[in-house]
Amino acid sequence: MERLILDADTWLLVLTGAGVSAESGIATFRGMGGLWENHPVEDVASPQGFIKDPLLVWRFYSERRAAAASVQPNPGHHALADWERHLGNRFLLATQNVDGLHLSAGSQRVVEMHGNLFKSRCTHCEREPFADTTVYATGTLPLCGQCGEMLRPHIVWFGEYLEPADLERIESFVHTALDHGGKLVFLSAGTSGAVYPAAGLVNKVTAAGGDTWSVNLEAAENSHRFKHFVQGKSGEVLPALADLR
Ligand code: OAD
Repeated sequence: MERLILDADTWLLVLTGAGVSAESGIATFRGMGGLWENHPVEDVASPQGFIKDPLLVWRFYSERRAAAASVQPNPGHHALADWERHLGNRFLLATQNVDGLHLSAGSQRVVEMHGNLFKSRCTHCEREPFADTTVYATGTLPLCGQCGEMLRPHIVWFGEYLEPADLERIESFVHTALDHGGKLVFLSAGTSGAVYPAAGLVNKVTAAGGDTWSVNLEAAENSHRFKHFVQGKSGEVLPALADLR
């Protein structure tokens, strides 16, 4: 297997998706066949779906909270945390996962682009998003303790914008790497490459002259845009991929 060299000049931007958590026992989106209890996943993960049936959406996220609370990070998550310990500020992990497993594995420089399953926020007042591990009983509609309006999961849903600050953090990492004349590397793991803007990062790094790696169980929609494609499970590939120098 080709090795990814992580030396003193390397600046590594990693993007992860649901595939990285698959070996921990969390179903991927496409793995669910795009359906949850016969509802298209988009219906339970969109502002329109929430307006139509907030109880259903809370049931979906409560189930996901319960599932994510009982799982552990796998060797893929741990490998990324090891790489970060080696590279320090020359490492940034952007994840589309909301399960918090990268943080549990010890990763610190993490941008949770799609939010966090264990946070809620008010649909109405200015209250900051807050930690919320509650698995709400079916039929319970959680309300804001400050204004009494509905709470919602702190998740970026289909059709919603990502936090500008999160995107800026990723852009600024790329610019800092280039300003330092570093060797910019982008590695994408366990993502179908179907959801933007995450799926477009490979183009950005390629345009900036960086090296690009994809680690995925199957070829992703944007695999052909990567210089290196390593097919396999991230929990097996990532721990063996890097040559730390
Ligand atoms: P997907 O479910 O679309 O894709 C998971 C990818 O991981 C697929 O390409 C699989 O082949 C691959 N895969 C599965 N098991 C793997 C393993 N053990 N090792 C490596 N690869 C594996 O998930 P995402 O790409 O993360 O958005 O989906 C992107 C976004 O679409 C999600 O964040 C979510 C979703 O709908 C929002 O909720 C906004």
